[in-house]
Amino acid sequence: MAKGLLKAAATPYYRRKATCDEYVAFHYPETDPLPAFLGPRSPPLSERYPFAVRTLWKPGRRALDVGCAVGRIACDLARDHGFAVGIDLSRELLEAGRGRGAARFAVADALALPFPDGAFDTVVAMNLIDRVPDPARALAEAARVTAPKGLLLVGSPYTWKEEFTPRSRWLGRVGDGGAEVRERLGRAFTREAETEMLFFIPHHARSGQLGRTHIQAFRRQS
Ligand SMILES: C[S@@+](CC[C@H](N)C(=O)[O-])C[C@H]1O[C@@H](n2cnc3c(N)ncnc32)[C@H](O)[C@@H]1O
Repeated sequence: MAKGLLKAAATPYYRRKATCDEYVAFHYPETDPLPAFLGPRSPPLSERYPFAVRTLWKPGRRALDVGCAVGRIACDLARDHGFAVGIDLSRELLEAGRGRGAARFAVADALALPFPDGAFDTVVAMNLIDRVPDPARALAEAARVTAPKGLLLVGSPYTWKEEFTPRSRWLGRVGDGGAEVRERLGRAFTREAETEMLFFIPHHARSGQLGRTHIQAFRRQS
């Protein structure tokens, strides 16, 4: 790793059994938990994160999900691509998600992706940049492995916390950061779409985390 870069280590939070169980329920729900909280106003799973992300890409050859957790999006990418891989720093999350689809999984660091330049025609980095010590580096790595004319999806609720990211490296204020993401990617990427998706991470029958992921779809020009 080059000098001066922060090296990421899996945080205990993403290695806990309770977190793994919550992410399995989030990515692979047996029944939709949200109507119990919101009643008939609850939007269907098909319109929510992570299920609706599949509407943002087109079938392709090779795809990558960076920070895939238990791998729902990696498995959806595998349905639409010849090859899909999900990487995460948490071996525990990857193990909890294993065997649910055709995606490959590997423990790897989003700040130093073990792939050559331009290796993937679809790259997804969801709810990751506000959970790493160097968000700009994570973006640069995702951009590096995106092929020319390839698609890069970056999503985040921008819940910046010093627990994960030194304040000096936050890309924007808490709840914000989309403009900085776009700026960081520079002229090599053109924004094709911008959307918001509701997500709900169930904790137990009476509690859960409701949020909104801001998603930008970028096309690599060269
Ligand atoms: C908020 S979760 C989002 C998971 C998934 N993308 C989703 O949206 O449901 C953040 C994920 O990033 C992973 N992560 C954090 N730092 C990482 C790093 N440096 N490299 C790879 N994965 C990382 C965590 O283990 C966790 O699975």
